[in-house]
Amino acid sequence: MSTAMSAPAVRAHKVRDGADPLVMVTAYDAPSARAASEAGVDLILVGDSVAMVVLGYDDTLQVSVEDMAHHTAAVARARPDALIVGDLPWMSYHVSVPDTVRNAASLVQAGAQAVKLEGGAKRVPMIEAVVDTEIPVMGHIGLTPQSVHAMGGFRVQGKDTEAAMELVSDAKALDHAGCFALVLEGIPERVAQMITTAIDIPTIGIGAGVHCDGQVLVYHDVLGIEDRLAPKFVRRYADLKSAAVAGLSAFAADVRGGRFPSDDETYHLSDEVAEALAAYGGATNRE
Ligand code: KIV
Repeated sequence: MSTAMSAPAVRAHKVRDGADPLVMVTAYDAPSARAASEAGVDLILVGDSVAMVVLGYDDTLQVSVEDMAHHTAAVARARPDALIVGDLPWMSYHVSVPDTVRNAASLVQAGAQAVKLEGGAKRVPMIEAVVDTEIPVMGHIGLTPQSVHAMGGFRVQGKDTEAAMELVSDAKALDHAGCFALVLEGIPERVAQMITTAIDIPTIGIGAGVHCDGQVLVYHDVLGIEDRLAPKFVRRYADLKSAAVAGLSAFAADVRGGRFPSDDETYHLSDEVAEALAAYGGATNRE
């Protein structure tokens, strides 16, 4: 029998202390959450990547707290064993500390057991306030997609000495502010390794190399549902888009060829009712 994951259990999960790497995957609805839970992942991130892989936007800036709460609630209804982390969307933690706390609470009321937000040391006041309301916070530094315009695109971060040292210092600030885990996205593996060594909370990498305390990928990327250009760090473990196209094509061919539905897939009247209806122009079961 599987046991539910908690934020304190995740916090204690450092590979250097002998733990297995953590596994996190995104999910945005009940079926994907059930699949992730049955696969035994440790954490489900209801990521704002929903904007791109489900809702068809070009970036993650288009989703609101209400959108994220809607998807978080769908994931929570699947009652997964994995810890549910709700992603705070752009502008939900940038305006004021009270706004941030209220928005984090909205995701918890929708079913999240922790929230994630992007950014380094400048987010510390927001993080401390959310942690103070007893909501576990996951940090996220490096290539932070909500900063797409400020970064000039989805670009690998921390490539020179100064930028790398700033990421290490951001990671320490987030650890001290009370984050229970830290996502490292799109940074060179040596920088991720330095950060993982420098802090006491687990790092969960995406495009950050093998030295993190865990790895996260987007559900639609892992399963090949999103089959457009994939970033270098994605490994596809299934090709569900091709399976879906093949299945739907076969359905369309059967409908057009009169092979669907079959008799087995059809409801029938009793002979008695069919005969009675024949008097009003219906067909009998023999016709
Ligand atoms: O929204 C998301 O999917 C994320 C992961 C890439 C970490 O933030």
